[in-house]
Amino acid sequence: MRTTQVTDGVHRLSANVSNILFEGLWEIPNGVAMNSYVVKGEKSAIIDGVCDWDGVPETLFDQLDQMQVRLEDIDYVIVNHMEPDHSGWLEPFKKLRSNFTVICTEKAGALLESFYGIVDDVRTVSSGDTLDLGNGRVLAFEEIPNVHWPETMVTYDTKSGTLFSCDAFGSFGAVSNDAPYDDALTDEHIEFFEREMERYYANIVAAFSRPTENAIKKLDGLDVRIIAPGHGIVWRHDPERVVRAYRRLAGYAKGPARPEVTVIWGSMYGMTEKAVRPVVNAIESEGIPTRVHRVPETKPSFVLDSVFQSSGVVLGMPTYEYKMFPPMANIVDEIGKKRMINRRAFRFGSYGWSGGAQRELDELTDRLKMHWQWLDPVEFRGRPTVEDLELISERGRELARSVKEWVYTESG
Ligand SMILES: Cc1cc2nc3c(=O)[nH]c(=O)nc-3n(C[C@H](O)[C@H](O)[C@H](O)COP(=O)(O)O)c2cc1C
Ligand SMILES: [Fe+2]
Ligand SMILES: [Fe+2]
Repeated sequence: MRTTQVTDGVHRLSANVSNILFEGLWEIPNGVAMNSYVVKGEKSAIIDGVCDWDGVPETLFDQLDQMQVRLEDIDYVIVNHMEPDHSGWLEPFKKLRSNFTVICTEKAGALLESFYGIVDDVRTVSSGDTLDLGNGRVLAFEEIPNVHWPETMVTYDTKSGTLFSCDAFGSFGAVSNDAPYDDALTDEHIEFFEREMERYYANIVAAFSRPTENAIKKLDGLDVRIIAPGHGIVWRHDPERVVRAYRRLAGYAKGPARPEVTVIWGSMYGMTEKAVRPVVNAIESEGIPTRVHRVPETKPSFVLDSVFQSSGVVLGMPTYEYKMFPPMANIVDEIGKKRMINRRAFRFGSYGWSGGAQRELDELTDRLKMHWQWLDPVEFRGRPTVEDLELISERGRELARSVKEWVYTESG
């Protein structure tokens, strides 16, 4: 782990993690960067922390050394967000140095006690409060509740215009410590992080899209020159680019998204599968791209990302024990809980005797208040007939035509 200088008096410590499921749940084939920052005035503060800091004192000494900061010079630890991916290092750190003040929101203070038994030397702050580190470096705090937990805030360095945004403006993807800044990356690299950001958003932030919009509005008044998130690259050249990306993603949550159709399908014996290629071809014949995923083979992390980007969704699934094919029930449940609402959709599938999948799908999407607009479903007994396939294709074309003009725009 190597530290780098973000700007005068601001340093970045970071570790890449790859051999875990993020939140114990989401695949990260390209890893994820865990960032923390040291800010120096006369006094020094560490903002957020890296979860896999190994607790070996030498590792920490070494990193601080690189920044010419001694352990005893750390006066403040700023906990923007209490989720253990950022706060998990506090306990071992406290063993090395007990004499520092934690700065966090009141809600975070309560969590500090529940998670780590930390009650002493905690100063709670709320929106508008500041902390003067000396040498003209004043940190200002702004609460951004529910991005990602209720206690979350951001820290803004008034001297350099750096916003330490924690989960907000973050992304998946391991970051090279040689080039952790947008000004040091090629366009291709930045686009890689933007794609990783979309999946991070769909998996981690999507359910909190309204709070994310509120947070962006709140931060509008700040002169943000650098965005330094808890995950992903630091936006030093064009911070507005990541703000625009997050605003767009928050918009996708409530639909429409892109003029694309995600086709999710599952099949036991290949009956439902027979209609997959025809419907994909039909959609594409209207010039609309598709993203096709089989469940359970494709993991929810990727299916959610895909649905999040698409204005249209097709579900192909059979009836299983009077209900939905289980992995499809699971993914629809996740889509609803992540608040990916207001999509245009169509479902087809096979059954053997009485069906039942459609009824459960209707109940589930109602219960989750997904507000999806469905074309009439097409169900068939056993394998689809030529007429069934023609009808399914017609629905596919209809769906494609309907999403063609239904596109997210910045003005909303
Ligand atoms: C474990 C299992 C449970 C099933 N449960 C039902 C059911 O409750 N109702 C029904 O109409 N058909 C049921 N079927 C029949 C399937 O829906 C039917 O075989 C269908 O053609 C499967 O489509 P697929 O090949 O795309 O999976 C069941 C089949 C299996 C293997
Ligand atoms: Fe978080
Ligand atoms: Fe996080």
